[in-house]
Amino acid sequence: MTAQVHLPPIAPGRRALIGHAVPLLRDRLGFLQELRAAGPIVQIAIGPKLLTVVNSHELIHEMLTSKSHQFSKGLLFEELKLFGKDALPVAEGKRHLTRRRLMQPAFHRERVSGYVQTMRETVEPAIARWRNGHQLDLKTEMQLIAQSVVMSVAFTSNPELESARALLTSVDTVFKAALRRALLPVPLLERLRTRHNRQVARAGEILHQAVAGIITDHRTNPDHYDDVVSLLLAAQDETGAALPDDEILSEVIGLLAAGSETTAVVLAWLFHELGRHPELEQRLHHEVDTVLAGQTLTAAHLPQLAFTRRLVSETLRLYSPAWLVTRQAIELVQLGHVTLPAGTDLLWSPYTLHRDAALYPEPLRFDPDRWLPERPQPPKGAFIPFGLGKRQCAGDAFAWTEATIVTALIASRWRLRPTPGASPRPIGEITVHPSSLRMTAMARESRPIREAA
Ligand code: HEM
Repeated sequence: MTAQVHLPPIAPGRRALIGHAVPLLRDRLGFLQELRAAGPIVQIAIGPKLLTVVNSHELIHEMLTSKSHQFSKGLLFEELKLFGKDALPVAEGKRHLTRRRLMQPAFHRERVSGYVQTMRETVEPAIARWRNGHQLDLKTEMQLIAQSVVMSVAFTSNPELESARALLTSVDTVFKAALRRALLPVPLLERLRTRHNRQVARAGEILHQAVAGIITDHRTNPDHYDDVVSLLLAAQDETGAALPDDEILSEVIGLLAAGSETTAVVLAWLFHELGRHPELEQRLHHEVDTVLAGQTLTAAHLPQLAFTRRLVSETLRLYSPAWLVTRQAIELVQLGHVTLPAGTDLLWSPYTLHRDAALYPEPLRFDPDRWLPERPQPPKGAFIPFGLGKRQCAGDAFAWTEATIVTALIASRWRLRPTPGASPRPIGEITVHPSSLRMTAMARESRPIREAA
């Protein structure tokens, strides 16, 4: 007997030929947010392409944990293979498992606390460059900081500002192209050789050249390094052979891409909210001044920065960088009450899930205290900025640590003031970033609070 396919309903508002393409392309985030009212699992159409949107956190949980073996990473990640095929975030099956086992130790919680000094030494000079009373493009500043943290920790490399900017632009170009291709109704159009495609190819070359230089240096001076690149260079497959160079290259680029933009936008939104809420900023300053008390920040301070951490949690909720994560059914799958044939493209959105009033009271209010342990916590599976299950973010502990450190270091030195009248809008590119975020850096009078002797 063959299993019966029982597809999810089509979301309201489908137009002939174009489907839901207009609202999706006009306001991606708004469209997906409204779609939550259409039911736990629904289908949308982009031209002839059908996508299944999983809204319910219970179904997302099922898809990412007990049923994860029935899905591949899907559309978006297929396009992200532009970064190099088979890097950890896009690899599938056995290759994914072996790579994850190889690289995960570098990102274990205990290992990450050993990175605090490097993180601090990378962030401090970057924020020391800021000038009192000068306006910053905060998104770019945070991108440069987050990129140099990943590069310093994982590759022992911190390029000059100009090369760092070129890398940032290249990652951004490739990201934008991947998203456009994933959402395009007719994929073939994008494959034509256009000026834009040549730019994407050029961006890929810049990335490959920069990373190839890092790898050559590690190979030439192996004793100088003990980092993720060394780990990859020392790795062997089951036959005892070393990993091929192009695979090492892909992994390094994959980490750079996965680890930079995500943390950067979280930090940008966090300071945007502090600019709008001086009372929260004051509480942060009080905590940082009390805990650090004029000392150099170390791993031992981190557990004491409880309010700072709640600020990070709340930003991860309200501005979850991932607004679109995809999967594809590799066989017939039963998900809740629906049955999806092999080949079904699915997507889920941590960003819209975290803004659902049924899961979070006053969801649009930025309230770090909702994370106080005595307050009711969201249901299991309803807070998933890093995903869940076997494909959960490998860098989550890294990201928490980095975001806490950067927030504390900036707060101990600077106030970032909003530009009067500006109201940055969330834009859903590969992450949710602010349309424009200019803030003025004002030096704080340094007044560390020392504990009474
Ligand atoms: C706030 C910051 C970050 C957020 C919100 C975030 C979010 C995510 C999400 C949602 C996924 C899973 C996608 C899926 O289920 O398909 C993911 C995967 C991944 N992330 Fe992150 N990430 C962050 C920072 C980082 C950092 C700092 C690194 C590394 C330095 C990193 C490395 C990775 C890797 C390697 C994967 C692929 C894991 C696998 O497939 O096994 N991420 N991230």
